[in-house]
Amino acid sequence: MSAQPPVFNRVAVIGLGLIGGSLACAVRRRGLAGSVVGYDKRPDELSLGESLGVIDEAADSLEQAVKGSDLVVLAVPVRATRAVLQEIKPWLDDAVVLSDVGSTKTSFVEDVKAVFGSVSPSVIPGHPIAGSEKSGIRAANPDLFNNHKVILTPGDDADPQALSSLRSLWEGCGANVLTMSPRYHDEVLAATSHLPHLIAFSLVDTLAGEDENMDIFRYAAGGFRDFTRIAASDPVMWHDIFLSNREAVLRVIDHFTHDLDQLRSAIADQDSAKLLRVFSRAKAAREHFSKILSGQAFVTNHSDKQVTFRLQPGGAVSGEFRVPGDKSMSHRSIMLGALAEGVTEVTGFLEGEDSLATLQAFRDMGVTIEGPDNGFVRIHGVGMKGLQAPRGPLYLGNSGTAMRLFAGLMAAQSFNSELTGDASLSKRPMGRVADPLRAMGAVIDTEGGGRPPMRIKGGQKLTGIHYEMPMASAQVKSCLLLAGLYADGSTSVTEPAPTRDHTERMLSGFGYHVYRDGPTASVSGGGELSATNIDVPADISSAAFFLVAASIAPESELVLRHVGINPTRTGVINILKLMGADIDIFNEREIGGEPVADIRVRSAELKGIDIPEDQVPLAIDEFPVLFIAAACAKGRTVLRGAEELRVKESDRIQVMADGLEAVGVKTTVTADGIVIDGGQTIAGGVVNSHGDHRIAMSFAVASLRAEGEIEVRDCANVATSFPGFVELAQNCGIQIAAEGA
Ligand code: S3P
Repeated sequence: MSAQPPVFNRVAVIGLGLIGGSLACAVRRRGLAGSVVGYDKRPDELSLGESLGVIDEAADSLEQAVKGSDLVVLAVPVRATRAVLQEIKPWLDDAVVLSDVGSTKTSFVEDVKAVFGSVSPSVIPGHPIAGSEKSGIRAANPDLFNNHKVILTPGDDADPQALSSLRSLWEGCGANVLTMSPRYHDEVLAATSHLPHLIAFSLVDTLAGEDENMDIFRYAAGGFRDFTRIAASDPVMWHDIFLSNREAVLRVIDHFTHDLDQLRSAIADQDSAKLLRVFSRAKAAREHFSKILSGQAFVTNHSDKQVTFRLQPGGAVSGEFRVPGDKSMSHRSIMLGALAEGVTEVTGFLEGEDSLATLQAFRDMGVTIEGPDNGFVRIHGVGMKGLQAPRGPLYLGNSGTAMRLFAGLMAAQSFNSELTGDASLSKRPMGRVADPLRAMGAVIDTEGGGRPPMRIKGGQKLTGIHYEMPMASAQVKSCLLLAGLYADGSTSVTEPAPTRDHTERMLSGFGYHVYRDGPTASVSGGGELSATNIDVPADISSAAFFLVAASIAPESELVLRHVGINPTRTGVINILKLMGADIDIFNEREIGGEPVADIRVRSAELKGIDIPEDQVPLAIDEFPVLFIAAACAKGRTVLRGAEELRVKESDRIQVMADGLEAVGVKTTVTADGIVIDGGQTIAGGVVNSHGDHRIAMSFAVASLRAEGEIEVRDCANVATSFPGFVELAQNCGIQIAAEGA
């Protein structure tokens, strides 16, 4: 029995079918009313209600049920509502709360008006979104409403006390109560419940009518069973629902028939792009819906999932493998493929959460994208002006690259957009792109300190500028070049030191000329991109963990296949070689405008060095793991000129220093770098990665030279750049277990 006080003294439930019976039973079992009286015009159901303990009292007449009750709930077929209201009218005064459980709400309000002349403030229509294909009082279930929604549709002048009591009653039955207008309720239900039932009834009827032997049912597979389950629902009830919600249902049927006709034409005309667009959009929407149903956050929101890495000390690494695709190139392949004329096929695409968020954002803007399937993606380009306004904000997960590059593209679109991201991305500086974009004519709003979300106004005319970047950032350069594709005249960007040039290379691959003059890259606006095929090499930033792993762990040897060795990315190799690493690059080749090679790495005695400052932008993402190499090297390593590390997914200087300290390694942090004296004992301990994927993976590598267990917390974001890291690390010899994954 429940400890809750009764909400009503006497509740009358009129109509003891599945819903009425379940409500009576739930109210009674949970002690939500002093007593529950039931009425049903079928005497058998009524006496069954009493004998099954669904109700306290069986009323012989409507008069007996209604008189003395302070809540009356109609649970009769919706088409019977008006007649029942007529009958109970003489005993129903304004103090009694009147509600119902019908599937259509405007019709209930109209019935009340027709019988009483107006709708009194104590009338609160209701609709529990719960049910079953079973019907009748025998199926009554006191838990039927547990965690289900109940929609109440009070009028504007509804009595707040009546509303709050009815809400408490339903909440007491375990339901989640929401309120909305009757009209909105009917629109929503017509689309989400009534139309699917109609289609299920119609489909089963059509197929069964064509097939006298009912063979379809013998051969039907699971899909048919799932899809048509609701065609076994109560015909009378559904007859009533369709007639009572006629207008809203007709509207949604027309909409659906129109779209179905379009699919028919697409099949008749063999319009693959149309079919794939609709199917991919629907698939993405269905997956999103599944996540909502299972209570997960949207695709890339990992912050809720707690993953811990537990690492046993020591070991050697060996093997030969290919790490996942390059993140920078994966983002860009989707962006340029979407804006190109024609179909772009991508292989080696990184199926990490960051690049998947970019892919989803373009789907949200109407681009048909097939895959990803084992790194294969096919993008049906819509042309430079073919993007459509998204229905909501574009969610870019953890990815600074995505947000900054999108900013350049969105500033030039005809529609407004909003760019959002997870907790880490929401702290990162966007002024570095918003300011120069504004100088080009863009209208952009950010939160305080230039943080996301970025709200970008559409329909602005952009004009090319020359920009001298204050920091060496490929993201800023790329953002401005992408905006420059749409700007009047030429847009040029000068970098203070070389940064990754994937945007420039890939634009050339799509047939868009990029001028290069020493440190300055420029584009002229107004051109077009032509679709091409892209082979994304393995990400050198992901390979870096294994380059360091094999270098520091004794008796190790690894071969990493098909790694991108673009000279603007090879800082990690240059730095490790200066430290004495044994790294061999072979099978060098050029694929789709990017240099690629296989890399062999063997254990070596590393020594500390002063890291040349010109290598910093070329190794910008690899410093966390280079700090681990430095901790294992002989002598002192000094890093300077790396203040950019403080505004990555975390403050990578401080978070690494804290992590190293937690495992027993002292360092000296400076404003723009760090000093690490190698050779200290890595004792083991608990490290907080602050949700930064590269910090988490770096400490996994450190375990190879540790003397005790290392626990790394907050590791779910490893999936943003390196899906499958744990398995790969295990296979090559790192003693890692992921908890909570
Ligand atoms: C990236 C550029 C770099 C890098 C990031 C990816 C890119 O950022 O750290 O992981 O794809 O353009 P900055 O441009 O901010 O240095």
